[in-house]
Amino acid sequence: MTEQPDRKERQRETHLAPDPAEGPLTTDQGVAVDHTDDSLTAGERGPTLMEDFHFREKLMHFDHERIPERVVHARGAGAYGYFEPYESCAEFTKAAFLQDPSVRTPVFVRFSTVQGPRGSADTVRDVRGFATKFYTSEGNYDLVGNNMPVFFIQDGIKFPDFVHAVKPEPQNDIPTGASAHDTLWDFVSLQPETMHMMMWLMSDRAIPRSYRMMQGFGVHTFRFVNANGKGTFVKFHWKPKLGVHSLVWDEAQECQGRDPDFNRRDLWDAIEAGEYPEWELGVQLVPEEDEFNFDFDLLDATKLIPEEQVPVRPIGRMVLDRNPHNFFAETEQVAFHTANVVPGIDFTNDPLLQARNFSYLDTQLIRLGGPNFAHIPVNQPVAPVRTNHRDGYHQTAIHTGTNYSPNSLGGGCPAIAGADGYAYTHYAERVDGDKIRKRSPSFKDFYSQAAMFWNSMSDWERKHIVDAFRFELGKVGTVQVRERTVNELAHIDYGLATAVAEGIGVANPEPGPDNHKPVASPALSLDNLGGD
Ligand code: HEM
Repeated sequence: MTEQPDRKERQRETHLAPDPAEGPLTTDQGVAVDHTDDSLTAGERGPTLMEDFHFREKLMHFDHERIPERVVHARGAGAYGYFEPYESCAEFTKAAFLQDPSVRTPVFVRFSTVQGPRGSADTVRDVRGFATKFYTSEGNYDLVGNNMPVFFIQDGIKFPDFVHAVKPEPQNDIPTGASAHDTLWDFVSLQPETMHMMMWLMSDRAIPRSYRMMQGFGVHTFRFVNANGKGTFVKFHWKPKLGVHSLVWDEAQECQGRDPDFNRRDLWDAIEAGEYPEWELGVQLVPEEDEFNFDFDLLDATKLIPEEQVPVRPIGRMVLDRNPHNFFAETEQVAFHTANVVPGIDFTNDPLLQARNFSYLDTQLIRLGGPNFAHIPVNQPVAPVRTNHRDGYHQTAIHTGTNYSPNSLGGGCPAIAGADGYAYTHYAERVDGDKIRKRSPSFKDFYSQAAMFWNSMSDWERKHIVDAFRFELGKVGTVQVRERTVNELAHIDYGLATAVAEGIGVANPEPGPDNHKPVASPALSLDNLGGD
């Protein structure tokens, strides 16, 4: 085994602050402090003096300890570890970290809830983020996924609307926690593409028992590119070694009261105890020539590729074996970005992915205070970094020489690698079309996969889903929103719609040509569903 996993750890060590036990307290300027409990005053009972530089520096620094929390995924927990491939994936991708089973690549993973603020509870009904930064020999690769394989919307231009609807209501900042309020359900009931993801959100997947027992999904269709420039569509899957486990709703609510840090503590304690969580990375591979062989669009992030159609092929494993030294420095300041890719991994024209490729860098510019956040230790690649970027807030490098290209004077400007296989070359996909704001008709089937999800559930799983809809939708004050949502459910399964309607006091939707049952669901017995 090579020593690569230690490269990130060794790099981190160089950033550790001096051991506090090794010397006296100092100011930021390194001047030893004689006393830190009383400010300098004129007389024992007199006013504080301006010249007390220690007092002013101490307060100034404290006053500026907080940075903006992430606009979504604000609450999280992170850990370091490593990834190793089972075998070479050279047939599909030239990505260096997927070539050699003897090479371990260091990783940092951040798990998160999406909706709640930084101080909210862990065990709310929500999507969980599962973001992995691979510190590869060719630069950082970020796989910024969730614990559900699909998403709420098809196009990132709707993300601000969706998040505004999900977040607490603007006039009073209520509610936090559970996703039950009029604005979310109003949006959902008017935006049928959300229905597949809403089925996942109302299922037990939305209340994982542990981050160690959660799947992860890259969600989008990405592209592998091999050394010959051949592309293959790819969906990424993380599968936990401990299996997938959820809380039941009553447990989740009790945990919120008893231990709001239930999931964060579990991850931390397991790693401290040497019970290192492990995931297998799998891929679904689709040859480029099969792009249109599905009854949905591969570019539509509200759809998954059924595993019966394209099996998941295991390609490696990831182990998390080190807790961060410092939550703020590492877990809070880590900056994931879907556009952090390495040679051999490329994008598709999924309009949600394309929006993300803009949004992460943009938000981190403000969240992390300027353009130099790649200098923060947790974000630093282990691969060498040579750029012509200069200056800016929080510049930590001392550059020498010139900083432009082309450049005949040298003296600092790095050479250009060129398209030689080592450098990142964008996949030469042919694109052609009119400039239009219009989604392809291939994105228009909103209900078939939602129905497939419902039909794959056992009776007790269905009961939990119906209970969740009744609980969440039952809190919605606006009757029309409840009715519209129930009508949407009728497109998925009429039995589901009526079971929810009965629990929240709205009329059953009219069974009509629209209220189709794409696949029969004979196992559903309304009598067994009970109340909430
Ligand atoms: C943060 C996943 C869609 C914007 C995150 C994080 C994850 C994630 C895991 C937390 C990263 C961390 O731990 O630091 C996803 C997935 C999506 C999705 C799987 C859909 C498949 C979007 C879209 C946008 C967006 C469509 C905007 C167009 C953001 C922003 C953050 C974020 C602004 C905060 C990043 C930061 O402050 O560092 N997302 N997201 N996301 N996401 Fe997404």
